[in-house]
Amino acid sequence: MLASAKELLLTAQRHGYALGAFNVYNLEGVCAVVRAAESECSPVILQVHPAAIRVVGKPLVALCLAAARMSQVPVGVHLDHSTSDADIRGALDLGVPSIMADGSHLPYSENVAFAREMAAIAHASGAIAEVELGRLTGTEDGLTVSERNAKLTDPAQATEFVRETGADSLAVCIGNVHGHYHGEPNLDMERLSRIRSAVDVPLVLHGASGLPTAMVRNAIGLGVCKFNVNTELREAFLGVLSSSAGSEGKRDLLDVMKDGIAAMQSVACSKIRDFGSNGKCSLAA
Ligand code: 13P
Repeated sequence: MLASAKELLLTAQRHGYALGAFNVYNLEGVCAVVRAAESECSPVILQVHPAAIRVVGKPLVALCLAAARMSQVPVGVHLDHSTSDADIRGALDLGVPSIMADGSHLPYSENVAFAREMAAIAHASGAIAEVELGRLTGTEDGLTVSERNAKLTDPAQATEFVRETGADSLAVCIGNVHGHYHGEPNLDMERLSRIRSAVDVPLVLHGASGLPTAMVRNAIGLGVCKFNVNTELREAFLGVLSSSAGSEGKRDLLDVMKDGIAAMQSVACSKIRDFGSNGKCSLAA
């Protein structure tokens, strides 16, 4: 069933587990994530990035909403990293119940203004808004400690940011990065704990690919209720495509699709277990 994103997050927060929000680009990705959630009896979030919508168009959003409605478990649908008013309005018009208003590249006051306006628009459509404070980069290599700290979420500012924007959840920057971590991930758990004390909305951690299970569990204990996963899932699919392209003779398209789904499903199942949302589908229903 298509679940209320707010209910999903608040239930996860109440029961001390986190939702996997998996970026999907195509039918295979949607199938993989929904099947993983059904096999683990887990609530889950299908997440689409505006860049993916630009490539394949609105049917990708319609696909996610239809798959959520047909699913045996609660499935949320979320618009990931949106920096534009038009993308957010477009997704809300299609019935997406949860959006990320990403003004994290803007100076603080402009981030507040953008996030506040987008959260109000989302709320008027019955949807919820995730916002981000701090600046997540692709990699933290080469940064000095002070440069790194300047990009991290300031717990004191987080209180004001959540109050001023009226947002429903907060994406934190505590040393998490999109894509591959170079070396051991170095998350500032002490900062996460201070952010948790400073705000009461559910916390979101982007860049969950490559995080060790123990670190994930620690972050959940400190208030993270949603993890965004993209790289590990897409690489599982791309791995199948490249081995199929290199294989002797032509492979049947359906076999490639089946293998692609299976590879992504296996990643999603393992993440769902890490996040502790397995077996929780009836709580969130
Ligand atoms: P990864 O690609 O590192 O899994 O991050 C995904 C993400 O945060 C999407 O918003």
